[in-house]
Amino acid sequence: MRKRLIVSAAAGALALLLTVPASAAQAGPGAAGIGDPYYPYAGNGGYDVSHYDIRLKYQPATDELEGTTTILATATQDLSRFNLDFVLQVKEVLVNGRAAKFATSGDQELEITPARTIAKGSPVTVVVRYADKPGEVERGGFSGWIRTPDGGVVANEPEGSAWWYPSNDHPTDKATFDVSVLVPNGTQVISNGPLTTSQRPGWTRYNYRQTKPQATYLATLAVGKFDLRQDTTPSGLPVITAYSPDLGVNAGAAQASVERTGELVDWLSGVFGPYPFDSVGGYVPNVTTGYALETQGQIFYSPAQFARGANTSVVVHELAHQWYGDSVSVQRWSEIWLNEGFARYAQWLWSEHENEGTAQELADFTYDLHPADDPFWSIEPGDPGADHQFAGAVYDRGAIAIQALRNAVGDDRFFAILKGWPAERKYGNATIQQFQAYAERVSGKPLGELFNTWLYTPAKPPVGSSGVAAAPAAGAGLAAGAAPGARTEPKSWKKIQETNTVHEHGR
Ligand code: TRP
Ligand code: ZN
Repeated sequence: MRKRLIVSAAAGALALLLTVPASAAQAGPGAAGIGDPYYPYAGNGGYDVSHYDIRLKYQPATDELEGTTTILATATQDLSRFNLDFVLQVKEVLVNGRAAKFATSGDQELEITPARTIAKGSPVTVVVRYADKPGEVERGGFSGWIRTPDGGVVANEPEGSAWWYPSNDHPTDKATFDVSVLVPNGTQVISNGPLTTSQRPGWTRYNYRQTKPQATYLATLAVGKFDLRQDTTPSGLPVITAYSPDLGVNAGAAQASVERTGELVDWLSGVFGPYPFDSVGGYVPNVTTGYALETQGQIFYSPAQFARGANTSVVVHELAHQWYGDSVSVQRWSEIWLNEGFARYAQWLWSEHENEGTAQELADFTYDLHPADDPFWSIEPGDPGADHQFAGAVYDRGAIAIQALRNAVGDDRFFAILKGWPAERKYGNATIQQFQAYAERVSGKPLGELFNTWLYTPAKPPVGSSGVAAAPAAGAGLAAGAAPGARTEPKSWKKIQETNTVHEHGR
């Protein structure tokens, strides 16, 4: 591009040169990744998405998915070409109404070359038409589309969206969503936000609308048979819950936990401030995975989470993410403590509320449980590495760090921070460094040493650091006949551990 303009100038075509926008000279391809050190190919460069309109038709019997996703974006540079993250078979791409060339590269890159260069700052409309059997598409032995006996589910972190819609797949590019799915009558669809449905002979269309900014991995889709219930909380918030009819012995425990969503979101609002989204809910499909995921406003639970009876602790964990993770999202995946440390700490607060062990007792117990040579302490929750992003230490040592903060600033300032931060960064992205600066501002205390000790040191901090695991008052918290230093297991301990399945099996 630049070369041709120079030639024109040399030819004396000055008038022509002046009519060409100077910026077109720098047009180039958008980067294949957004620049996340843990996942170099996650997201893309050169544009910013404001809205996804995802229109699908799915046949559970054959796993046939047909889709049209329309993306509204703005170019952030002059673009000759740009990428989307997607793994399904593409039939056609239009950019601003014109057919565009497309090709694939790497694991998940869809490279789009529009007919015309897009100028920085201008709106871009991308239409991608596709058809595939998503349950059969694998990358490195992994499929983001989980087939179930009666349909399929997508709920994954850090990435899963490429198995059902093309996107700029990174938490820093949030957007609003419309998800509309046509399925044979008798099949239900779950996605994010309030629901409306419409009928046509033999088919039902489910329309979900997410009006608040949403990170791509927090968009979820489930198609299958569900007992779908709609209600409202006393404050008027729509609540959607859904259960596969195939949950067997887990059915009662799953419902006894997830049906408490409205009550638990009210309790958490007292701790974290107003609930940030237009609806809340949870669904339990007939999958064999072990984990739960904080999909925005509509949480994904595996039946395995309820295999040992009801577990409100996991519901509290995933609901806490609606503030810590969903409304306020990580700026880079290395900042994952901002999600998991706080969601785990919310479980500790729930335990404290239920008189099943205080957060301090849980912190002390966790501290004592892992001897100094346990690899648990070699992981820095503040920068665990891509391979350990969801390691137990990010959650458990991460929650100790929050108890340490509570001890350092006192309960009044501490709870002001817990509630103030989600308001400060509502619908945005953040780093741990920014959280530390905020906590220092609210508390008036320098916290560098505390953050270093608990988040950025690959070793067990000394006994008593920040008031964690200091010698208990005579007898208090010590199991009868236990070795000195051994503590009674808090009553909530096992239920909290049951929410950990993902640490061993997460991708
Ligand atoms: N964020 C999830 C939680 O703790 C855990 C998780 C990590 C996960 N990776 C995942 C869940 C992949 C599902 C799939 O609540
Ligand atoms: Zn979590």
